[in-house]
Amino acid sequence: MSDKDRILIFDTTMRDGEQSPGASMTHKEKLDLAEILEAMGVDIIEAGFPNSSQGDFEAVSEIARRSKSATICGLSRATEKDIQRCGDAVRHAARPRIHTFISTSPVHMKHKLQMGPNAVLEAVGHSVSFARNLVDDVEWSPEDATRTEFDFLCKCIDAAITSGATTINVPDTVGYMHPEEYGALIRSLRETIPNSDKVIWSTHCHNDLGLAVANSIAGAQNGARQIECTINGLGERAGNAALEEVVMAFKVRGDSLPFETGIDTTRLARASQMVSRITGFPVQYNKAIVGKNAFAHESGIHQDGMLKNTETYEIMKPEDVGVSKSSLVMGKLSGRNAFRDKLKMLGYELDPDSLNEAFRRFKDLADKKKHVFDDDILALVDDQLSAMGE
Ligand code: KIV
Ligand code: ZN
Repeated sequence: MSDKDRILIFDTTMRDGEQSPGASMTHKEKLDLAEILEAMGVDIIEAGFPNSSQGDFEAVSEIARRSKSATICGLSRATEKDIQRCGDAVRHAARPRIHTFISTSPVHMKHKLQMGPNAVLEAVGHSVSFARNLVDDVEWSPEDATRTEFDFLCKCIDAAITSGATTINVPDTVGYMHPEEYGALIRSLRETIPNSDKVIWSTHCHNDLGLAVANSIAGAQNGARQIECTINGLGERAGNAALEEVVMAFKVRGDSLPFETGIDTTRLARASQMVSRITGFPVQYNKAIVGKNAFAHESGIHQDGMLKNTETYEIMKPEDVGVSKSSLVMGKLSGRNAFRDKLKMLGYELDPDSLNEAFRRFKDLADKKKHVFDDDILALVDDQLSAMGE
């Protein structure tokens, strides 16, 4: 038995991720991605927003039909039409969930909804009860929760729980929080609202200040047991908490973050590549966990350390996230040891003088050229050896 608390991973790449401008996915792409997410061990897949289009309705319905172990969830606003459509799509799943939401912050209620607090509160109770008549698993979200007045937020959440919500999500819709503050909010809500122990508390953090993952972790440290996130952190504006970062933070830092997920982390790189390919959004080179450079080393000092023991500069094994091995990239900062190692890999073992000469030529070339490829090194050594008549 593990002494760690289980965190449910709720993937919203196909809903909040797809809301990223230019990231829309076809029916087939959604089915393929859902298959990958389920195989990877995602607990809840938010497959779309069924009432937003016929296409999304069909994609969510088909994902629900094909699902095996994952809960399949759809998003709906707080109207009967939205909720019914969502229920009709997810009902094919072995484990269907309706996720319904309404804004609760003053700025959203006044300008977006043009509704007063009483009308919003009434809509919370009605929407959740309506959803509960369709499925047993209902998640409720107060949109812009983190800019909502605390007492009103508590009233709305209380109404949602009383009306049958089973998961309460606390969205930091505009990525405004910092970790201590977000963690404290989750804790105060849990401590203030009656029957808070009857529901699962969930985080949903946006990345406008680059704090989405840190805020999600702070939420877990304060009692949240579901984290909403997306592959590659895809999502509106600066995106959502990145699934791969949250999951690896728990795996690597289990000493001080006593949480575990059901994710098979060796599938992370593949999922990242797939989302990048489908959406056409490149993954930034230095992106944590799945970026091209996440396991690449160029400086001589680091390469030397890596050749002696990989723990000198790596806190996780590349294989653990599905990358076959670390790479020592040859460039102007590379050292002699890494160069010798590279030559060996390319099939050359030079005597000390030849190695010195080859290394000098390599440094000359690296000063002029941004990337020195294996072919460049092969050409350089062949040229040197033929000049020496070997
Ligand atoms: O960011 C947000 O508030 C959302 C909700 C719809 C959950 O995505
Ligand atoms: Zn969101």
